[in-house]
This record gives sequence, C-alpha cells and structure tokens, in this order.
Amino acid sequence: MKIEIVGAGVVGSAFGRALISQGADVQWVDSNPDRVQSLRTQGLHATLPGENTNPSSLYFLCVQTPTIGGEQQRTALRESLARVATLLRPELSPTVVIRSTILPGTSRDWAIPYIEQASGLRRNEHFKFVYYPEFLREKHAAADASAPRIHLLGECEPGHGDVVAKILADIGGPIVRVSLEAAELQKYIHNNFNTLKISFFNEMRRLAARLNLAAETETMFSVTSQSAEGMWNPAYGTRDWGPVSGNCLPKDLDAFLGWMRSCDLASPLLEGLAASQFIDFFGSET
Ligand SMILES: NC(=O)c1ccc[n+]([C@@H]2O[C@H](COP(=O)([O-])OP(=O)(O)OC[C@H]3O[C@@H](n4cnc5c(N)ncnc54)[C@H](O)[C@@H]3O)[C@@H](O)[C@H]2O)c1
Repeated sequence: MKIEIVGAGVVGSAFGRALISQGADVQWVDSNPDRVQSLRTQGLHATLPGENTNPSSLYFLCVQTPTIGGEQQRTALRESLARVATLLRPELSPTVVIRSTILPGTSRDWAIPYIEQASGLRRNEHFKFVYYPEFLREKHAAADASAPRIHLLGECEPGHGDVVAKILADIGGPIVRVSLEAAELQKYIHNNFNTLKISFFNEMRRLAARLNLAAETETMFSVTSQSAEGMWNPAYGTRDWGPVSGNCLPKDLDAFLGWMRSCDLASPLLEGLAASQFIDFFGSET
C-alpha cells in the first residue's frame, strides 16, 4: 500500500522514516523545495504539491499549525486538505489522517466537512477519517517515532482506524482507540500537563533562590521525585475524587500561600491552584 505523508518537517519526516523501516512504501509531499530535494538526495520519494502523484489509500497530514495572537492557524492544513481531497478515490477505500495538533472539534466541525465539500465525497461512504496526534519529542524525534510509547487513534466512526492500526502494529506500542474529539483533547491534556509540571518546578526554583536555597534546589527536587506520590505513581490525581481533600493538602496550600503573601513573594501558579479548587470549569462556585 502506498502511503502519502503531507509535510516532511519534524513529525512527517520522523514518522515516515519509522514507517519505511517497517517496509512501508512512503511518499512525502512538501511545499518546501529544499525539504523535497533533501529527501530525494537521500534516495527517498518526495514531491512538491503541484507535481503529479498517484492517488494513495492512506494520507497522513503532518503540516504545521502555529498559533498567532492566541488563534490556531489552519492555512497549511487547509491547503493540504484541499489537495488531498482532489486525490481521493473511493475505489481505494481511502483514509485521511491528521497528525498535526488541532483544537477539539476541528476534525468533525471543519476538516471533514471541508474534504466533503472539496471532493464531493462523503465520510464513511467514500472515505474514512482519523485524528492521530503525535507525541514525539522534537529533540528525540527519530528515536520516539521508531519506538512510540503509545498511539491514540481518534475515529470518525468505529472501524475508521483499522488500516492505520494495522500499519502501526508493525512499529509497535499500545494502540488506544477513542472518538475524534477525545483524541484532539487528549493531545492538549498531554501538552498542558507537561507545561504545568515544568512551570511548577520553575516557580519553586525561583522561590528557593529568593530564600537563598538555590544550591540545594536540585536535592529538594530529587527528594520530591521520590517522596511525593504525584511523582512516583503515574495514576495519582487522575481519578475523579473531587477537589483536593484530606488533612494536609488544602490546609498546607492555604498556609503556604498566606506565608508567601506576607513575605511579598509571588506565586501565580499556586494562587491559580488554590482558585481552581473552588471554581468549576463553567465558573460557578462549588
Ligand atoms: N515538532 C514537534 O516536536 C511536534 C511534536 C508533536 C506534534 N507536533 C505537531 O505536528 C505538526 C507538525 O509539526 P512539525 O514540527 O513537524 O512542523 P514543521 O514546520 O517541522 O513541518 C511542517 C512541514 O509541512 C510543510 N507544509 C506546509 N504546508 C504544506 C502544504 N500545503 N503541503 C505540503 N507541505 C506543507 C512545511 O514545508 C514543513 O516542511 C504541528 O501541528 C505540531 O504542533 C509537533
């Protein structure tokens, strides 16, 4: 089966090479002539969007989705969807897979209707659609793509991810299947959690420096990684047991924040944490 990867950047390049290492027939399409040339000089198949390509039965879209002024930009995604829509051939049972990071609802409310409108074809009947977020780390792109920890397939309808799952089985790693929207949201849960953890320790690092404890910061963090259940138990905090409770956590956060304020020390993350205990997502008091 011929696989087309649209976008040969960090994600598309690493993912395509992982597929090739398992014997897949991969063709990249990239609007950057230098990227195309670079792949060609390595003996790989790559073309520009305007060049002739044979229709494929599996398309992975790995183009950039930058944020400008707080808004996700879909220009590259729109352009690549428009091109892929003209190539879809129902007799090939094609599957379109978005790998770019996109906001919840983008697949069902925007991408799929866009393909239908541009191609005159219908989801389910003529083509399948999957949202398959990428979790690789940029600095370890090749290694992560060839040994992924987990795959999450968001399916438009149950079964739409069958072909993708079959190919991923060759690469290895557990495969979890969910709705389109759950896969889109999970990618942001993943990224936001990493941001939260980094920001928390940065905030604690700044606090330690203000207290002239910079030299002992790494020791305190290293001990925390062994003493705090939130560090050594991956499932900690993920169950729905309501707001933080118990004898220690709420009272200690309260006391710590009071002490910080009295010392004129700022802790925006901890202040937000305290507020988040009592305000639900819709802003009402609980
Ligand atoms: N870089 C990472 O570590 C990483 C990790 C996980 C997820 N992601 C997400 O994956 C997506 C891709 O990220 P990236 O870092 O690989 O981006 P990138 O900028 O490295 O690569 C995007 C590629 O798409 C090409 N492109 C743009 N428009 C095109 C078009 N119309 N047709 C063909 N090619 C086109 C560009 O020339 C570029 O080579 C983004 O949504 C990003 O948020 C990135």
